Amino acid sequence: MHHINGIVFDLYGTLYDVHSVATLCDTYHPGHGREISAAWRQKQLEYTWLRSLMGNYVDFEQATRDALLSTSRQLKLALDTAAQLALCDAYLRLPPHAEVPAALSRLQASGLPLAILSNGSPHSIHSVVTQSGLGPCFAHLISADEVRMFKPHHSVYQLAEAHLKLDRAEILFVSSNAWDASGACHFGYPVCWINRAGSAFDELGQILDYVVRGLDELADQMALARAS
Ligand code: LAC
Repeated sequence: MHHINGIVFDLYGTLYDVHSVATLCDTYHPGHGREISAAWRQKQLEYTWLRSLMGNYVDFEQATRDALLSTSRQLKLALDTAAQLALCDAYLRLPPHAEVPAALSRLQASGLPLAILSNGSPHSIHSVVTQSGLGPCFAHLISADEVRMFKPHHSVYQLAEAHLKLDRAEILFVSSNAWDASGACHFGYPVCWINRAGSAFDELGQILDYVVRGLDELADQMALARAS
């Protein structure tokens, strides 16, 4: 980690708990909250990948709205307009994972610039980060909207080099999404995968540099490396 001069984080799932919306989902369809949340997140990601491949970009908020409507129809669990608006609004106010605030403070104390690189729209990134009070941790909030493409397209990963004014080899990319970690690896970043669930990594031909169970473990490893 001695060669690392900046750290870039994925937002949804990595820093913030996308499945916290399952509780609200459950109020509309008791017992189906986690099912709706999981299907919604998967469809949201699928729509970002498909729209990038088609060259038919809409921002992440629109893709998220579209994915919720599709999920409701797919599962035959009706969500009226008010429910859809409430659920999409909850996506603008996601809570950070429990270990994230303290770990970010420790990483920030290292003096390295911290940034977010997310598929989220500028508005949604700003909203989530501001609502959580973690805004001061970050030197840059970078949205894929700048290139009207979604991760894992290389043009999105290149934004972090441009904004931090660092070479990819000296930027640590951190994600809990295995496909995103693979994309960042392929682009050329050193990558840390946050594997909270103990999942198997994707078979996409990439070798990770670091695997941790939480952001606190990354802060531990960074502290050890910089003390040695
Ligand atoms: C993001 C999603 C992909 O924050 O997790 O970019």
